[in-house]
Amino acid sequence: MEKIDRRSFTRGVGAAALGTAIFGPGVRGAKAFADGPRVVRVGVLGAGWWGMLDLKAAFKAGGVEAVALCDVDSERLEKAAAETAGLQGGTRPKTYADWRQFLSHPGMEAVILATPPHWHALPFIAAMERGLDVYLEKPVAYDIREGQAMAAAAKRAGRIVQVGFQRRQSQAFKDAAAYLQGGAAGRIVQVDAQIHYAANPPDATPQAPPSSLDWEAWCGPAPKLPYAPNIGHFAWRLEEAYGNGHLVDWGIHWIDRVRLALGLGMPKAVEAEGGLHVLKGRITTPDTLTAQFEFEACPLVWRHRIWGAAEWSPDTSNAALFYGEKETVVVTDDKWTVVPKGTGERRVMEAKTDVLPAHVGEFLESVRTRKAPSCSIEDAARSTACVQLAMIAYKTGARVAWDDTRGTASGPASALLKREYRAPYKHPSA
Ligand SMILES: NC(=O)c1ccc[n+]([C@@H]2O[C@H](COP(=O)([O-])OP(=O)(O)OC[C@H]3O[C@@H](n4cnc5c(N)ncnc54)[C@H](O)[C@@H]3O)[C@@H](O)[C@H]2O)c1
Repeated sequence: MEKIDRRSFTRGVGAAALGTAIFGPGVRGAKAFADGPRVVRVGVLGAGWWGMLDLKAAFKAGGVEAVALCDVDSERLEKAAAETAGLQGGTRPKTYADWRQFLSHPGMEAVILATPPHWHALPFIAAMERGLDVYLEKPVAYDIREGQAMAAAAKRAGRIVQVGFQRRQSQAFKDAAAYLQGGAAGRIVQVDAQIHYAANPPDATPQAPPSSLDWEAWCGPAPKLPYAPNIGHFAWRLEEAYGNGHLVDWGIHWIDRVRLALGLGMPKAVEAEGGLHVLKGRITTPDTLTAQFEFEACPLVWRHRIWGAAEWSPDTSNAALFYGEKETVVVTDDKWTVVPKGTGERRVMEAKTDVLPAHVGEFLESVRTRKAPSCSIEDAARSTACVQLAMIAYKTGARVAWDDTRGTASGPASALLKREYRAPYKHPSA
């Protein structure tokens, strides 16, 4: 049976598509833009899988020069620098192992921040204080108090910030959202969202980290767990101490888009149930989860299952289903379907969008024009807080009530809005 996971898909078809495109503006280098958009001098912090895809998307959007790269894995850093040089006519970016030195790189205007989530808050706030603009990858932060401190820092600094919810740029999603807001489906009474896929975590045996990887620096303010491939590069997303699981990592895209489509703020309460039924011993976050977000307007139910056979329909393994009184509207990345009540009809609308260059390109344009891009850190921090509250509800086994005016949760959950940093690091909300 053919098995396609998200990583191999993106590295295969997606990366190949990007690959052909980046030999447009990128390979001609900055000088070729004399008549084009002003060249923005960017750096990438966390030159791993997605950081490099963000950079390639920036080249595809055009008008960019990569002046610096930073990573705590020297092998990855070298590979990324060589690849970047190839993409911009041989000009090699300066490389750094230490993000503080990287942020001081002379002439750098903007940063693509694509480290794992536990390494978002400190460099982001430092970048704001240094007057840099930031394309910040999702989730905004590892914990809710970090996200609040980051939004406050961005407000103080008045810099350009775009958060990496690039799926907001999907034309199918935009069309579906406009349709839902137009009211034809009637009042939306419930929304289901889900992403099911078969995860294949790597080896969980503790072992020495690769010689090129500075594991102490990689763990940073998070707990320093014994290294094993199943918590290292890319695989950290299903480890509780680093990525905090599939809903926080990938599901967050749907939570964000459902909020946007229906104009939702924060839920009044969140409940979650699930467990580690198949992947126990290989990951530490639920492989099976149902979470209910009680928004004022309607409940949103999230489900994931990251094991077992494929869904009966590929459409619904990565989808949101909006149940209206008159119609059901099913939205996927490139397609939306309207199912009117009682007619047996299905109206299918398709629209493909190259979402990452669109989202990164919007950021670059904002850096030039100083006009705010579409995905603010305040709103992205709300989507992030939603999934973090669901994980708190899962861990505590209790319904978590959220007081949005005070930005705080009820009962035992209130102690979990912030994780203590490992010394010598200091939590930004301290
Ligand atoms: N927008 C999306 O659809 C999307 C998709 C995938 C990943 N992401 C996000 O991108 C970020 C990176 O994810 P990834 O899959 O590329 O992970 P990854 O593990 O492949 O890459 C992360 C890189 O950051 C480096 N790093 C860690 N700590 C560092 C530090 N202190 N200083 C410098 N470098 C450091 C690592 O060595 C690694 O090379 C995450 O926030 C993730 O959620 C977003």
